Amino acid sequence: MPTLLKAATSQVGRKILTGVTGVLLVLFIFFHLGGNLAIFGEADAMNRYSLLLHDLGPLLWVARIGLLAVFLIHAWIGISIWINKRKARPQNYQVYSSKGGPSKQSLSSRSMAFTGVVLLIFVVFHLNTFAFGDMETILIDGRETHDVKSLVIDTFQNPLYAFGYAFVMLLLGTHLGHGIWSAFISLGLTSKKASAAMYTIGGVVAVILAFGFIFIPLYIYFGGGCEATLIECR
Ligand code: HEM
Repeated sequence: MPTLLKAATSQVGRKILTGVTGVLLVLFIFFHLGGNLAIFGEADAMNRYSLLLHDLGPLLWVARIGLLAVFLIHAWIGISIWINKRKARPQNYQVYSSKGGPSKQSLSSRSMAFTGVVLLIFVVFHLNTFAFGDMETILIDGRETHDVKSLVIDTFQNPLYAFGYAFVMLLLGTHLGHGIWSAFISLGLTSKKASAAMYTIGGVVAVILAFGFIFIPLYIYFGGGCEATLIECR
């Protein structure tokens, strides 16, 4: 096996790869939330943002393929780490305890594989709904573009989508609540002393991200879409 592949698939290499890919995914999630919040901007803000991305042309495809690779590597290593742990300890502990230090057992840490797999399935479903869904076209500055904003607003009028998304975004927050801290540990970016503070910071970031994503479907649903005060439609 080539040395680089051997290093990447070693136990330490896999921890580093999950950390690096996890950080890249968190950066994407921040960026994506920022783009989605444009729905609360002026009438065309979200579609202008989408147009800007699509104007990147081949570069957008490079970013999409890169993101897909990062997602798959993260999921594949995460699942393989979980399977190895199960093999080493087939029976669950009756009581979870930690002597302090960097070990942080919580509902969030114990459900990483479950929340991760749900998020992976969610992304496939999500792309089918929003990225490749049926969309009307509108004119922005004389240019024809997809009306992503109307698709999002129409979709979240359906309670199944609105509450389904809110629930999955709760799982996203749970995954990130442990994942952000874990990435810092895997990449050796925190000391034993700073570990508790890092855990809190990771938790706060996770809550902010989850809240931001949960707010969008529920606000649209309860506000009645274009009738809602914070949403401006054409
Ligand atoms: C309320 C929650 C969310 C909403 C309303 C939303 C909305 C959207 C929309 C409208 C698009 C299509 C963008 C375009 O074509 O211009 C999109 C794409 C995408 N979303 Fe989301 N999203 C949400 C949450 C998430 C989450 C939590 C993730 C990841 C865990 C995610 C991952 C993606 C990915 C990977 C794409 C494809 C990007 C691309 O190829 O352009 N989304 N989303």
